[in-house]
Amino acid sequence: MKLYLDTANIGWIRKLNQMGLVDGVTTNPTLVSKEPGEFEEIIKTICREVNGPVSAEVVSTDHDGMVSEAKQLSRLATNVVVKIPVIPEGLKATKTVSSLGVPVNVTLVFSANQGLLAAKAGASYISPFIGRLDDIGQRGMEVVEDLVAIKKNYGLKAQVLVGSIRHPQHVLEAAKIGADISTMPPDIMEKMMQHPLTDSGLKRFLDDWEKAKRAKPSITV
Ligand code: E4P
Repeated sequence: MKLYLDTANIGWIRKLNQMGLVDGVTTNPTLVSKEPGEFEEIIKTICREVNGPVSAEVVSTDHDGMVSEAKQLSRLATNVVVKIPVIPEGLKATKTVSSLGVPVNVTLVFSANQGLLAAKAGASYISPFIGRLDDIGQRGMEVVEDLVAIKKNYGLKAQVLVGSIRHPQHVLEAAKIGADISTMPPDIMEKMMQHPLTDSGLKRFLDDWEKAKRAKPSITV
């Protein structure tokens, strides 16, 4: 499964990209609004840093406005993916934008039927929002299960991009189901690295090494 960062923070992206962990980045208007600087410059900087798709979202809600924004965004870098909401005008824009050869990530997907329509309209990525469904008492991961099954049944090309991830368990579940991509806030990726037994195990190794060095001065690092 590919791992994306769901952030517009270049510091976090650089830090985790140096470990070879970042296959791509997703942003949205809320995430970009938290960062200093101008929208297009932020997207260009992320696109230069990451060797993979970077989703940038339109804010128009009508077909023509979305298509015009999509054209503008696609000129920022070759790895830009245009993010479009799964509303009727958004599906129409997805058809237009994807037929221009610009990849589209259809976002704000909360049901498998919405995802199916997005794939039909030409989306390259379908983004179900898991955490927000969990928040209202539904099992978000069920939408991922359904989309992965539908994709397999019909050989759909669109990739299932699991968003609104709240904890490492969501990433693990998405991987077991066979989702193509999980996008997560940077702190979730950091949490995936951590285990208390790794820390205590390393401490014990280093303590034992120090003790041995004192007892047997011939040991060197
Ligand atoms: C995905 O593309 C979205 O940007 C994101 O995952 C939304 O997550 P949230 O529910 O934490 O805002």
